[in-house]
Amino acid sequence: MSAVSLLADIAGVGRDPHRGGYSRHAFDAAEGELRAWFAEEAARRGLDVETDRNGNLWAWWGTPGPGALVTGSHLDSVPGGGAFDGPLGVVSALDAVKSLRDSGFRPACPLAVVVFLEEEGSRFGVSCLGSRLLTGDLDADKARALRDPDGVTLAEVAARAGFDPASFGRDDAALSRIGRFIELHVEQGRGLIDLDAPVAVGSTVIEHGRWRFSFTGQGNHAGATLIADRRDPMLPAASLVAAARRLAAGVAGARATIGRLVPRPGGTNVIASTVDVWLDARVAGDGNTRPLVEEIAEAAKLAAAEEGCAVTVTEESYAGAVAFDAGLRDSLTGALRPVLGEVPLLPTGAGHDAAILGGHVPSGMVYVRNPTGISHAPEEFAEDADVARGAAALATVLKDLST
Ligand code: GLV
Ligand code: MN
Ligand code: MN
Repeated sequence: MSAVSLLADIAGVGRDPHRGGYSRHAFDAAEGELRAWFAEEAARRGLDVETDRNGNLWAWWGTPGPGALVTGSHLDSVPGGGAFDGPLGVVSALDAVKSLRDSGFRPACPLAVVVFLEEEGSRFGVSCLGSRLLTGDLDADKARALRDPDGVTLAEVAARAGFDPASFGRDDAALSRIGRFIELHVEQGRGLIDLDAPVAVGSTVIEHGRWRFSFTGQGNHAGATLIADRRDPMLPAASLVAAARRLAAGVAGARATIGRLVPRPGGTNVIASTVDVWLDARVAGDGNTRPLVEEIAEAAKLAAAEEGCAVTVTEESYAGAVAFDAGLRDSLTGALRPVLGEVPLLPTGAGHDAAILGGHVPSGMVYVRNPTGISHAPEEFAEDADVARGAAALATVLKDLST
């Protein structure tokens, strides 16, 4: 089955009838179905499937061992996400391995396809959960205590799904096997549209992180409480939304997003007692994101004080700027030159497991054109012809790097 057919095969899994698009989150039914599907498809291609200590799936061509060439991505999505962010890298990897095997090629090193757990962090808040646990970038105790929106911990959810949360944590055995990691991914902006090219090689990933602002006021009656008597945490929460946009607009290369805001108890005729607001902030360069967040936090604290409310700010995750391994990047463009000509290099504002692994092993990325330029939304897209080009490009680089 080609990458296009494999995507069609999972098109019905995890559709979100309320938000549109897909909602596939760590350890939910849709994600479980996709994991089982992956294991089956990998086995069908003669690969040996295993799950590591952190819930990442591995499908091996050859005996697992050091110096492996690894490719893959993730199968989870944001709430109401597109069909390609994550799955495209997984189906392209399965397609590439199959076409190499069918051509009679035998890699000179072990080759593996990996599916990382909860890349989006949509259920437990921390992005790249599986790769951060594997590399030790995320402390295992902290991970086990992460809670989903229903208040259930990752440890409890993982145990219910048949995993042993006690085994979470830095996995030197798994890490030491990865010689190089290549992630193919749908492009999430307009880079390849503007360049009029189907495929690019990744250059850098922007510094980014997530912060939770918890505002506390006094829950009360919407009709009986005079405006002058209120301590409404929704007021500083609203100021935070405006301040994040205003302050980010003043910093070159900055992005600040508030896409999730939870008032409690959440009634139309109820003044909230607390409001939790999540800020996603990213700034070009190195070391510029936390200073921007501090400015935004100052504005939030002032707004909270004006309303007689309290606010606490918690950094939930952070990842520094990453430049992909220059040698590997050159190998990727060199391998693709004979088939695609000069392939552009593309920086990205999106985060990836490849960027987490890039702090530990040589890593690189291949992007496939997205004609809508939209991602993390149902409109995310890739033409069948570009999906096929991407899978062929991945096969080309895997062959080149494992010969
Ligand atoms: C993941 O796609 C992210 O950049 O948040
Ligand atoms: Mn994503
Ligand atoms: Mn992704």
